[in-house]
This record gives sequence, C-alpha cells and structure tokens, in this order.
Amino acid sequence: MSDDATRTEQSILYYTLGVLVLFMTCLFIASKSYAVDVPECIEYDSSYAESGIKQLDEEGLLYQVFINAQMWAFDPGEMYFPVGSEVDFYLTSRDVVHGFHIVDYDVNLMAVPGAVNKTTVIFDKPGVYHLVCHEYCGTGHQNMAAEIIVNYPTK
Ligand code: CUA
Repeated sequence: MSDDATRTEQSILYYTLGVLVLFMTCLFIASKSYAVDVPECIEYDSSYAESGIKQLDEEGLLYQVFINAQMWAFDPGEMYFPVGSEVDFYLTSRDVVHGFHIVDYDVNLMAVPGAVNKTTVIFDKPGVYHLVCHEYCGTGHQNMAAEIIVNYPTK
C-alpha cells in the first residue's frame, strides 16, 4: 500500500473517531439539559402481577402505580392524579409484549412478561392523557389504551 493510501485511511479513521466523540458528547449534554429519565429495569417478582395505585404522602402528590398490560387493556385503565403529582410507574405484562406510550409526555416503555420497567412522570399540566399500546400485540391492539386524568385538587 502506498503512503498516500495509508494517510487517507488514517485520516478517515481519525475523522470517524471525531464524529463518534462529538455524537456521544451531544447525547450526554442533551440527556443532562433535558433531564431525560432513562427507564430502569427491576427484577420481577410475582407481586407485580397485582395492579394498583398507592399514594405515598399526605398531600397526595406522590404515587406508585403498579400497572399490568394484557390483551387488550391496561390494568388500571383509568387513573386520576392532581396537577403536580410525581408518579412512579411499575410496568409489566400478563401475556405478550405490549407498548406503553403516554401521549404528550416523553414516556415510551415496553411491557414485557416476566420483567418490570419503571419510570417516573411528573404531571405538571391538567388534562386527559391517553396511554396507548404502540407494540402490535394481536387483533385488539388498536383498541388498547387507558386514560390518565390530571386535574386540580377539588379542596
Ligand atoms: Cu398491546 Cu398492542
């Protein structure tokens, strides 16, 4: 191989490395500045198969939601939270892989049987938010949804 070819090859390698470092730096800065919450995987145990909503504090602003996906619904299918609530979702599936996307919020998880995915969402705006399955899971997939109702406290 000629010296020229070696030099060209070397500069391509350096250039590629530079682009890679730039990409990783941008990713890091973006994740910090947008406070991206990366979902956590939690070890599964059978208690997660039971659905429910737990209020953790007196003021009613901290919640844990144990949510199960199954053909073709989410359990619970309707959730009410006051504006400003911080909600930890623990998500699993009772049958096949489902999706979990909260419209208008940056939440995109997979509901996987035998695994638990956790994410935290702060509902800071009132509204009715649709929670939809975005992973094809059978003939009822397009109807698989739930509602999250975020409202001002009545008292
Ligand atoms: Cu569940 Cu698509």
